[in-house]
Amino acid sequence: MATPRPHRAMKDETMRIGVLCSGGDSPGMNAAIRGATLRGVDVHGFEMVGFVDGWRGFHEGELVVLDRPAVRGLSGQGGVFIGTSRVPPFADGATGPGGPGEEELAGFRRKIAEYGIDAFLLIGGNGTQTVAEILHRLGIPVIGLPKTIDNDLSGTDYTFGFDTAVSVAAEAIDRLRTTGDSHRRCMVLEVMGRDAGWIALHSGMAGGAQAILVPEFPESIEQLCDWVTSVRDRGRSSMVVVAEGFVPAGGEHAVTRTGLDGFGRPRLGGVAEMLAPLIEERTGIETRATVLGHVQRGGAPTAFDRVLATRTGIAAADAALRGEWGTLAALRGDRIEMVPLAEAVGRLKTVPEDRYAEVRLNFG
Ligand code: F6P
Repeated sequence: MATPRPHRAMKDETMRIGVLCSGGDSPGMNAAIRGATLRGVDVHGFEMVGFVDGWRGFHEGELVVLDRPAVRGLSGQGGVFIGTSRVPPFADGATGPGGPGEEELAGFRRKIAEYGIDAFLLIGGNGTQTVAEILHRLGIPVIGLPKTIDNDLSGTDYTFGFDTAVSVAAEAIDRLRTTGDSHRRCMVLEVMGRDAGWIALHSGMAGGAQAILVPEFPESIEQLCDWVTSVRDRGRSSMVVVAEGFVPAGGEHAVTRTGLDGFGRPRLGGVAEMLAPLIEERTGIETRATVLGHVQRGGAPTAFDRVLATRTGIAAADAALRGEWGTLAALRGDRIEMVPLAEAVGRLKTVPEDRYAEVRLNFG
C-alpha cells in the first residue's frame, strides 16, 4: 500500500480538489480514489489532496498529496489508505433542517480557504451524501461518490463494496452449509446492512438459503419455525440468512449492541443469537448462530467493485472538470451518470416488495 505523504501548500490557478471519505469503509474505496486521481491529476491537471480519516483530517489539518505514486497498486486493496471516520463536518452534524450555524460555517469556509481547496469529492453512503447535499446548498462545490456495503443509497443501482460483501457472505453460507448438513443443524447467519436487506437478499439467494429475513418485511417466529421444520421434514438442514436490522413481526426494534456509532445511531447486531435459541426451542432442531460482522467489509474488493469504483472515480473527476457540482456519480444500468445529490438523499433504497416476494415463495 502506498505510504501517504504530507501535504505541502501550493499556490497557483490550478483547480485543487480535496478527497474525503466518511462512514464505514467499503471495498473499492481505494480504487475510486485511484480512478479519480489518475484522471484528475494526470489528465485534467488538478492538484488533489486527501483528508486523513475524513472530516477529522479536515478539522485537524491532516492532508496527504494524491498523485500517481500515491495511488500506485491500490485498485485491489481493501480498506481505504487515507482512512475514514464518522466524524461530522459540523458540531451538530449539519444534517438538521437548519444546517450549521453562521459562526460554524464561517470557520468551515476559513479552513477551506486555508487549504486552498476549490472543490470536494466526498466518498460515502447515505449520511455522507446528505452532508454533501447540504454543502452544495451552502454553495460549496462538491461531488459525491456512492459507496456502502449496504447498497441502500437511492439514485444509483449499486454502490461499490456491496458486491464484495455479498460474495463474502455467500462464501460463508457455503461453508456453514457443509457443517450444518453434517450435523443436521439449522444454521442462522447474520449479515450487515442496517435498515436495508440487500446483503441478506443477495447472499441468501446466492447460497440457496431456505429463509431470508430482511428489515423491510417482518416475519413471525412461527412462520420461520414452519419453514425450518418443513426443510427438516424433507430431509435437509436449514440455512437461514438474517439481516442485522430484521425485526420479527410484533417486535418493536432491531437488536442492538451497546453504544452508538459516530452518527449517533444504535449499533446493530445480535439478532441471529436471539433467533437461534427460539428456533431450537420451538422446533427441537439444534440451531447455531453466526454473526459475520466486519469480515464482510474487509479484504480485497471483487473485480466488479474494482471496476465500478474506478469508473466512479473517473466520472467524478470528469464532472469536476465540467463543474457539475451537487451531483453524485451514479450507476444507471451500465453507465455512470451524474445525478443531482438531492435525488439520492433523504430516502433509503430498500428491498422492494416484488424482489422479496420473488424469493419468499420458495422459502422452507
Ligand atoms: O453502513 C455500513 C455498515 O457496515 C452497516 O452495515 C453496519 O451496521 C455498520 O456499518 C457497522 O458499523 P461499525 O463499523 O461502526 O461497527
